[in-house]
Amino acid sequence: MRALLSAFVIGAAALTGTTALAASDAEKAGKRVYMTKTCLACHGRNGAKAIMSYPNLAGQNEKYLVQQLKLIKSGERVGSVDPETGHPYVKGMADVMHILTEDDIKNVSKYLAKLTPAEPEVLEPAPSEEMLKAGEKAYKKLGCRSCHGKDATKSSNKLYPIIAGLDRDYLARQMTDMRDKVRTGGKVKLMYGVIKRAKDEDIEAMATWLSQIDRTPE
Ligand code: HEC
Ligand code: HEC
Repeated sequence: MRALLSAFVIGAAALTGTTALAASDAEKAGKRVYMTKTCLACHGRNGAKAIMSYPNLAGQNEKYLVQQLKLIKSGERVGSVDPETGHPYVKGMADVMHILTEDDIKNVSKYLAKLTPAEPEVLEPAPSEEMLKAGEKAYKKLGCRSCHGKDATKSSNKLYPIIAGLDRDYLARQMTDMRDKVRTGGKVKLMYGVIKRAKDEDIEAMATWLSQIDRTPE
């Protein structure tokens, strides 16, 4: 039985190996978009090494990515202003979005969704156990699980983002922007009613806890 089982496991691994290698033409085209149309500069290698407080994109839901790209391109999603530049954080990206076609948006989203999620960022100083516990508790208490999943690694709808393992400062900024209703467009209104009950310290704790969840394969 064990021999049979391991033969099966090896067979299955070989199978998934080949499908992963045979990237579809759309994914190849998407990779080209990512590498040549500026995305790499801000979102980093393989969509998993974003600079500053920018979002990692690897392993995000494809439908969510398509939707956000459209919202950023059309100017519906703007968000808060970066005090260092005096412009919205998203401006540098919004400025280049005119070079993306509809097909580019579809292909780059397909490519990014299939990539391995980023490793959790190393926080300095390392977060305390109490902070992590408080984050998990607030996430549960405020009812985030019904849409973003029990451990935040799987959303209940593909139009909702997977939020585990994103950059801490990015997470905190998005939660605050949604509480202030300055992040607009898409399905964001679903967030308004929930996040308004979060205090600043809940946001800090949830962002810290979420940023430390490891979505990389074992
Ligand atoms: C100049 C830097 C910059 C460039 C270039 C850039 N982005 Fe972004 N991108 C950002 C920032 C910053 C945000 C988050 C904005 C905010 O905080 O509100 C973002 C957000 C996103 C989001 C939404 C992520 C989420 O979790 O909601 C997607 C998807 C995205 N970018 C894809 C791309 C793609 C694809 C390209 C290339 C066509 C690209 N970006 C080019 C800086 C950039
Ligand atoms: C009713 C469903 C729902 C609930 C409950 C919910 N969210 Fe969301 N959340 C969404 C949707 C939908 C979006 C994407 C909005 C958009 O279309 O721009 C989102 C976006 C986010 C984002 C931004 C992610 C990114 O990549 O930019 C964060 C962070 C987030 N939610 C955290 C939370 C937290 C924390 C809670 C609990 C306090 C929560 N959400 C509860 C539906 C929900």
